[in-house]
Amino acid sequence: MIPRDFIQTLLGRVDIVDTVERYVPLKKTGSNFVARCPFHSEKTPSFSVNPAKQFYYCFGCGASGTALGFIMEYTGANFVDAVHELAQQVGLAVPEEHNPAQVARTEARLDLGAILQRAAAFYRAQLKDSAPAIQYLKRRGLTGAIAARFGLGYAPEGWRNLAAAFPEYEARQLVEAGLVIDNDEGKRYDRFRGRVMFPILDSRGEVIGFGGRVIGAGEPKYLNSPETPLFEKGRELYGLTQARRAIRDQHRVIVVEGYMDVVALAQAGVEYAVATLGTATSAVHVQKLLRMADQVIFAFDGDQAGRNAAQRAMEVALPHLVDGKQVLFLFLPEAEDPDSYVRQQGREAFERLLSRATPLSEFLLETLTRGVDMTSTEGRAQFLQAAKGSLAQITAPALSLLLRNRIAALAQVERQDVESLMGRAPVAASTAPARRVQRSAPSSLAARLLACVLHQPELVKTEGLPENEAVLPDEHALLAVAEFVRHHEGSVNLAVILEHFRGQPEEPFIQEALRREFSAIESSPTDQLTLLFQEGLARLNRASRTRTIDALLARARAQALTGEEKQLLQELTMSRQGK
Ligand code: UTP
Ligand code: MN
Repeated sequence: MIPRDFIQTLLGRVDIVDTVERYVPLKKTGSNFVARCPFHSEKTPSFSVNPAKQFYYCFGCGASGTALGFIMEYTGANFVDAVHELAQQVGLAVPEEHNPAQVARTEARLDLGAILQRAAAFYRAQLKDSAPAIQYLKRRGLTGAIAARFGLGYAPEGWRNLAAAFPEYEARQLVEAGLVIDNDEGKRYDRFRGRVMFPILDSRGEVIGFGGRVIGAGEPKYLNSPETPLFEKGRELYGLTQARRAIRDQHRVIVVEGYMDVVALAQAGVEYAVATLGTATSAVHVQKLLRMADQVIFAFDGDQAGRNAAQRAMEVALPHLVDGKQVLFLFLPEAEDPDSYVRQQGREAFERLLSRATPLSEFLLETLTRGVDMTSTEGRAQFLQAAKGSLAQITAPALSLLLRNRIAALAQVERQDVESLMGRAPVAASTAPARRVQRSAPSSLAARLLACVLHQPELVKTEGLPENEAVLPDEHALLAVAEFVRHHEGSVNLAVILEHFRGQPEEPFIQEALRREFSAIESSPTDQLTLLFQEGLARLNRASRTRTIDALLARARAQALTGEEKQLLQELTMSRQGK
């Protein structure tokens, strides 16, 4: 695990403006920076980055968070990866890995990135000069605009074309980048020859590898970059950079098998598709996608290989399912892939297919019952046994419950029997981030005060804290934040508070307070916020005094109060009358 104080050190070094700027161009207005929101479609900018608070907020869609949160939201990275990314951006080593090998790796990554970028530019330029390659892409229905969007290129026939782009053709880094190969006699040659080149980008849009397709027939059909320090196939998805905006807009993402599927779908206007890189779907893939979209649809070929791939993807997805999000499977007609289908039938037909995709739960039950004689006792026992393994992996509470019901019905047993058979598999609270929900209940007083403190942490130093014990969770959160601010050494801003409470019980209340109050409070001048806080704090203290008085009076009716209690009651009653 990453030590907590490292997060605070990291936040002290990071400027959220620089971080966001790496992904989204920002414009300065007053003391803030604005942009069109990367998390929803809009014409005028409502996405704002506040350097003093080290916090971003979209007045349009409510997306908000710290620099770390931004990386997680934008790239789909998990917390640990986001910390590493951010640390790298500011040149800090994450403590656990502070060793020379790590430093060397970081430096190597920088070199590799520059090399791959140069190679991509070379391949792109070659495509412009190659009639056969252009002809090939045109025949496959692609326009120049789409080729440019995906940065497609061409590696010409010939053994050492890259030497034209790299005067240092013999440098060791070219081998590490996977661009060249040394033969047994130590003679060096280009890995990619006579192939259409598909650059693979990371979440920042930088080239980390290539896939190359032969023009026409030839073996292998696709040649891919080897894994390098930059390129881990099980983590990356082809086309994610280009698809990001559409995924956000549509709240869904399609996972296909091939580079050409992604590009052809985009050509047809289906821009929210990505592909695994010739590898099976991994847990990292599933987690990334479920963070970015509400619906993840796997579109596999209609053959046996496609079914097997789907089943693997399903098994990988089970532990990561979240109630409120859907994983679905689309099986294309025999001998079709998304590319061929969308090219012949068009976008609407393809999207109609999508709307009829099989939900994961259906596919799971179908898989569990396939080849099993459900009319026999033995068959149903076999089914229950298999179901047990799958159910044990699902932590999404509602989905798990509903599946138990379905399984009980299919096996012709009672729900309770399924429960006892499963040994009451724990229905853990899901660890996935909560969906942004639109609730309209009025904000509690404590939530409003909490929002004031979040925006202007000094308030708890100058204006004091609530007097009595917290009763409501909002009040607990308010007190916890106030305590943290009071005792924190060094400067406190919103980001520091948010990262301290990440994953803590108070976090949802903090998020909720921010979400409800952000617009109102962000536009209030400092002195107005102070007034609001003073007034609210007085009311909160009054309310909590009344609560204590009522409790003491109720107690007094049942038994005699202690001397101490009596005194407290008297003080409280007097102070109430005083107000
Ligand atoms: P497919 O064979 O389904 O190719 O491989 P495709 O995408 O339909 O290709 P086209 O339409 O003939 O051009 C799907 C994916 O599997 C990987 C590639 O990632 C490819 O996109 N693959 C396939 C390889 O890595 N090597 C191969 O030789 C073939
Ligand atoms: Mn194909």
